Amino acid sequence: MRKLNVVFGVVAATGAAGWLMTLFLAMYWMPRPAKGPVTGQVPVATFAPPTPQSAPPDIRDAVMLGYNIMKHTDKYAPKYVGNKLSCTNCHFDGGLSMRSISLVGVAASYPKFRTRTNYATDLVSRTNECFERSMNGHALPVDSHEMQALMTYFAWISKDIPIYSKMPWLGQKKIKSGHTPDAVAGETVYLGRCAACHGGDGQGTGQGPAVWGAQSYNDGAGMAKVDNLASFVRGNMPWLTANLSDEQSLDVAAYVEAQPRPHFQKKR
Ligand code: HEC
Ligand code: HEC
Repeated sequence: MRKLNVVFGVVAATGAAGWLMTLFLAMYWMPRPAKGPVTGQVPVATFAPPTPQSAPPDIRDAVMLGYNIMKHTDKYAPKYVGNKLSCTNCHFDGGLSMRSISLVGVAASYPKFRTRTNYATDLVSRTNECFERSMNGHALPVDSHEMQALMTYFAWISKDIPIYSKMPWLGQKKIKSGHTPDAVAGETVYLGRCAACHGGDGQGTGQGPAVWGAQSYNDGAGMAKVDNLASFVRGNMPWLTANLSDEQSLDVAAYVEAQPRPHFQKKR
C-alpha cells in the first residue's frame, strides 16, 4: 500500500514526465526471478530397499553375486581378501540393514568428497578402500566380475533413491562425549561384554569374528579409529543387545585398538 501511495505521489507531483518515472519505479519494484540456480531443500530419501532376489532377470546374476560377496567374501572373492572377515560383519545383512553402516543408497551418494584424498571419490575406489583396509586385502580391477557385481548390487539396493538426496541412515552416528577413552577400563568391558563371542584373545570364536590380530582389519581401516569403533559398538555391540554407554563404548574401543593388527600397505 505504501509503495502505491509513493507512486501516486510521484505522478501527481511531476505531471506527464512523471509517467515515465512511474514506469521505471514500477520496473524497479517488480519481483524479479532469482539469478543462478535456486538452492532449494535437498529431498530426504525413503528407506525401502528391494530384495536382491527381486532384481530384473538381466542383472539378477550380477546382483546376486554382489550380495553373496558381501555375505561370504572369502568364498566369492577369495583372491582379494586378506583376513577372515566378510563385508557383512560390519555392513550387517550385506549392507541392507538400516543400522551398522548401511549401504542402501550408496549408489546415489557417490561420487562423494573424501577427506582421505581431499577430492571427489567414486564408489569403485571407495569399495576398494574397504578391500584393502577393512579386509586387509587387494584392490579389485574395475572390470572384474566381482567389482561389476558389487556395483550392480549397490545400484539395485539404491533403487528409487534420488541422486544426492539426504539419506539419514548413511554413515555412523558420532558419539558426542568429552570422555577420554580409557583402555584399562575398556579391558574390563571387553572381558565382560565381548570376549564370549570374539574370544579373550580377540581372534574370534564360532559366535563372532576376529577383532584384532592377523585375521582382523588392518591399522589403515576406518574401524581402526577409536571414534569409529566406539560408534559401531554403541549402536551394534554386544550383538543383538547393544546397550553400552558412550563412555563404555569409547573405553572398549580404546582397548581393542591398542591390540596388535596387520599394518596397512598397498598390495599390487
Ligand atoms: C571391519 C569393518 C568393515 C568391513 C569388514 C567392511 N567395511 Fe566397508 N566400511 C566400514 C566403515 C567403518 C566405513 C565408513 C563408515 C562411515 O563413513 O561412517 C565403511 C564404508 C564403506 C562404504 C562407503 C559407505 C558410505 O556411506 O560412504 C562402502 C561402499 C563399503 N564400506 C563397502 C564394503 C565392502 C564391499 C566390504 C567387503 C569387501 C566392506 N565394506 C567391508 C567398515 C567395514
Ligand atoms: C553375542 C555375541 C557377540 C558379543 C557379546 C559381541 N559381539 Fe561383536 N560381533 C558379533 C557378531 C556375530 C558379529 C558379526 C555380525 C554379522 O556378521 O552380521 C560381530 C561384529 C563385530 C565387529 C565388526 C567385525 C569385526 O570383527 O571387526 C566388531 C568390531 C565387534 N563385533 C566388536 C564387539 C565388541 C567391542 C563387543 C563388546 C562390547 C562385541 N563385539 C560383543 C557377536 C558378538
